[in-house]
Amino acid sequence: MGSGGGQWIVEKRSSFRSEPLEVNVSETGCLSIVVLGASGDLAKKKTFPALFNLYRQGFLQSNEVHIFGYARTKISDDDLRNRIRSYLEKGSAKSEEVSEFLQLIKYVSGSYDTEEGFRMLDKEISLHEEFRNSTEGSSRRLFYLALPPSVYPVVCRMIKLCCMNKSHLGGWTRIVVEKPFGKDLDSAEKLSNQIGELFEEPQLYRIDHYLGKELVQNLLVLRFANRFFLPLWNRDNIDNVQIVFREDFGTEGRGGYFDEYGIIRDIIQNHLLQVLCLVAMEKPVSLKPEHIRDEKVKVRVSNTSLTHFSFPIMPIKDEEVVLGQYNGYRDDPTVPDHSNTPTFATVVLRIHNERWEGVPFILKAGKALNSRKAEIRIQFKDVPGDIFRLFSCLGKNQGRNEFVIRLQPSEAMYMKLTVKQPGLEMSTVQSELDLSYGQRYQQVTIPEAYERLILDTNYGRLQS
Ligand code: NDP
Ligand code: BG6
Repeated sequence: MGSGGGQWIVEKRSSFRSEPLEVNVSETGCLSIVVLGASGDLAKKKTFPALFNLYRQGFLQSNEVHIFGYARTKISDDDLRNRIRSYLEKGSAKSEEVSEFLQLIKYVSGSYDTEEGFRMLDKEISLHEEFRNSTEGSSRRLFYLALPPSVYPVVCRMIKLCCMNKSHLGGWTRIVVEKPFGKDLDSAEKLSNQIGELFEEPQLYRIDHYLGKELVQNLLVLRFANRFFLPLWNRDNIDNVQIVFREDFGTEGRGGYFDEYGIIRDIIQNHLLQVLCLVAMEKPVSLKPEHIRDEKVKVRVSNTSLTHFSFPIMPIKDEEVVLGQYNGYRDDPTVPDHSNTPTFATVVLRIHNERWEGVPFILKAGKALNSRKAEIRIQFKDVPGDIFRLFSCLGKNQGRNEFVIRLQPSEAMYMKLTVKQPGLEMSTVQSELDLSYGQRYQQVTIPEAYERLILDTNYGRLQS
């Protein structure tokens, strides 16, 4: 989207990739990846680790890539490397590989709203391009905004003014922006216009990393490639849908970003709503990103006539919202003492259309809870005229059939079924048909969402 569009970038490329993953030869050459906000949480926890994993897998080559961190915090190259090292030294990563990768990183400190720092950044990138003896026209500059949205416009202006790829013969400059895209409709539209005036749509990538998660990618396949789901996936059979995000840690120094946005804008409006759209949408005519996007949009807006639109998601009722803030949130020094910002929210969304009328979609998100989990629970209606009630171990109706898709941790999907308790007695019990990825796909390393997304931005692929 960008200038005038309405789609999210990760909706612009193929997070649902219909073509095989292969490197386009015209996309080789000197690559500079600039992480703006390099001192922050996203950068250390996700962006640098994803870049490292791509490096380990050979998607980023040390003879063509250089990585620049940029932020206001005054630290040295080594300080930044030390900050991120422990996030890279995980799993099978060897310490030499980590050190090699860290040597590709250069840090530049500067403000977000003055030219000085960006001129310095440009100088460093140009030096790298010269050092790599970049063929004229082939240098690529990827700017990744791991920053609060409030600074996107000014940062984009500075990039445009100071840091664009200099060649007129080829190569590119691309901008990746994170969710949340503004704070409300007005600010989102304003942001869209401001960035759209600076960059062409193909240069802009808006990321929602939940779309890159393996089991979110799987939703389309599950829903539309399995015959037995087709007749069940509707209001006649489904009682409710729960989409849940829990984290077992708090803001931990991210108050500068989080307190301005809160849990609804941080998680529900983007990550959980994207998942809801994939669960609720109709079958797209093809796997083209635009077709998938169109179906997702129809969950939220539909044309009722040539001139009128309606919004299938009904206004949320006050009594169907719960907000909360965890104890100790305000102790974080980056959070204002009197903050009212919610860190927990439950909202019930109701979709007024033929498939979903009457089925509540319960979205829950919270920080600093007792566990870390993200899952989708599809709860089916009770069996009418249950003849097994008396045989149930529970002495009442068995639990409902449920289909659970666990996005993390330990990716899995399982179906809860009522079965006969093995043995001579006739009694029933709940059990599961379990597809745990860790057991079923032992040889496969499931990629982190950001690996997929960053790779796609490098190769200009669109997602939905
Ligand atoms: P942080 O609070 O860690 O902010 C990132 C950096 O931005 C900080 O290190 C700081 O750098 C600068 N910064 C912070 N607040 C402000 C401010 N008010 N004005 C200007 N600069 C500021 O946030 P995150 O890294 O967690 O999040 C950044 C973006 O990434 C957000 O849009 C978030 O939604 C998104 N995101 C975050 C994820 C995560 O796991 N953390 C995952 C997915 C998306 P300095 O002061 O050095 O300039
Ligand atoms: C980000 C939020 O979008 O997602 C963070 O800004 C949150 O607050 C993070 O911690 C969670 O991502 P994941 O992939 O760890 O579930």
